[in-house]
Amino acid sequence: MPPTSELAQLTEAIAGCTACELYRDATQAVPGRGALGAPLMLVGEQPGDREDVEGEPFVGPAGHLLDRALAEAGIAPEHVYVTNVVKHFRFARQGKRRLHKAPAVRHVEACAPWLIAELELVAPEGVVLLGGTAGKALYGPSFRVGDARGRLAEWPQERFPLTTPPWVLATAHPSAILRARDEREDAYAALVADLRAAVAAL
Ligand code: URA
Repeated sequence: MPPTSELAQLTEAIAGCTACELYRDATQAVPGRGALGAPLMLVGEQPGDREDVEGEPFVGPAGHLLDRALAEAGIAPEHVYVTNVVKHFRFARQGKRRLHKAPAVRHVEACAPWLIAELELVAPEGVVLLGGTAGKALYGPSFRVGDARGRLAEWPQERFPLTTPPWVLATAHPSAILRARDEREDAYAALVADLRAAVAAL
């Protein structure tokens, strides 16, 4: 890790990451977006197709849904730092399409130092984990969003020691809500309710 105390330097270091093989096929690394001192950090899985092209997290369909849910939950974008557990897009090619492939444990582990560095720099009060990959990255393979969602939990300080550990709240990943068909409205309402619980805890 670079001896950095600046987000810009961290972003540059992430851009050059070759700690696992994902950098070879991805367009670019996608670091987090937001301000130092943002009270809330949202942690997703990995950049999607749009994010890979644009170089910013949550700018595709899942990001639009997330922005809407954040606005409904009453938190301004400048109070949020958004990032992902894995900084490069993992995909499988199908013809011209690039289909999302979930990151493997080795990708999550290789990328963990970047997330920890972001957490140390941004020093949020609270962290919202979006989906199972983010939950498993912090709490291990037995983590289930359904069991944990909507409740404040302690930062896993033994696994990932931080100077100022934030509280944690898990919720569904916005992509899972986009995939839900009949239950999409309920799933969206549950996401907003979880985000409201996070905002209330600030
Ligand atoms: N899904 C994620 O987990 N992160 C993004 O940045 C976009 C989609």
